Amino acid sequence: MERILITGALGQLGSEIAAFLRGEYGAREVVCTDIRDDPSGDRAESGPFYRFDVRDGERLAEVVRRHRIDTVYHLAALLSATAEARPTEAWDLNMGGLATVLEVARETGCAVFTPSSIGSFGPNTPKDWTPQDTLQRPTSMYGVTKVAGELLCDYYFHRFGVDTRGLRYPGLISNRTLPGGGTTDYAVDIFYEAVRHGRYTCFLKGDTYLDMMYMPDAVKAAVELMDADPGRLRHRNAFNVTAMSFCPEDLAAYIRRYIPAFEIDYHVDPVRQAIAHSWPNNMEDYAARVEWGWNPEYDLDRMTRDMLTVLSARLEDAHYVWHDAG
Ligand code: NAD
Ligand code: SER
Repeated sequence: MERILITGALGQLGSEIAAFLRGEYGAREVVCTDIRDDPSGDRAESGPFYRFDVRDGERLAEVVRRHRIDTVYHLAALLSATAEARPTEAWDLNMGGLATVLEVARETGCAVFTPSSIGSFGPNTPKDWTPQDTLQRPTSMYGVTKVAGELLCDYYFHRFGVDTRGLRYPGLISNRTLPGGGTTDYAVDIFYEAVRHGRYTCFLKGDTYLDMMYMPDAVKAAVELMDADPGRLRHRNAFNVTAMSFCPEDLAAYIRRYIPAFEIDYHVDPVRQAIAHSWPNNMEDYAARVEWGWNPEYDLDRMTRDMLTVLSARLEDAHYVWHDAG
């Protein structure tokens, strides 16, 4: 991995992977692309940036060849809640974008990283310690595209020898870029509201358990998987990875350790609640640990402290500055 192209580079995950990889490999070696202009100028000013629809295969191939790209991080997609509101668009982007990237990779010899998700599981998947290899019959359009994407990546590896790799990410928590329309977004929103207003109205029920991960671990997982010895990878495109599992009540209790006056109430969104209900409570990620050494660094307490520290220092309208109880 020396010259990298990222699709969806302005998104929640892309903005952080781009910053990390530009730091590691040099800004000129990491080409950022997205369908939007870069509002902050961060990615467009610090290195190459192209604005185009990832489904435009000719344009993608031209940029890949011009920069002699060897690895694509394909992150452009619609997330679960948006996909449920716009299912045909989600199918077009999530499948059409991936198919385009894989064809360009086949023609040019690139490796491809593609995130799958806890959304690839469904209501009849075992909910606790969800195994690596298990039943996958998702009921959301997002989940349908994620399972199909895992299979398509496997197909391109077996049929054409494309070096495809991927992770089933849980909900990602971060403070650089806001999340883009997912069911797990509450676990980010809650921190912004906690430091601004000392309270949060949650769109999921208080006892809804889901797997989660702090962004530094998500970036680490992607990079470590792409650097892993291919001879050890049995589950190339769909590694379960998790760092913590909690419900909104648990997260509120942890925030209260640092902002004692914090309050939470609930106004449940039936669409996102149904999606969350169909996903695992907590996955096992043994295959990732054995096949490429996965080991997360952030648990719920460490992530909570870091989110509150960063946001209360950065947000100008932060009124509830955290204090360290420990
Ligand atoms: P995001 O919505 O924050 O970002 C997606 C980016 O793709 C946006 O910047 C958007 O402008 C861009 N995009 C949309 N349509 C495009 C198109 N036609 N052509 C080019 N770019 C386009 O999403 P994210 O959270 O960064 O997710 C990245 C990947 O990780 C997705 O595959 C997602 O399913 C997966 N994932 C994310 C999470 C999470 O919690 N964020 C969890 C599991 C899996
Ligand atoms: N965080 C993502 C979502 O909720 C999970 O893939 O859509």
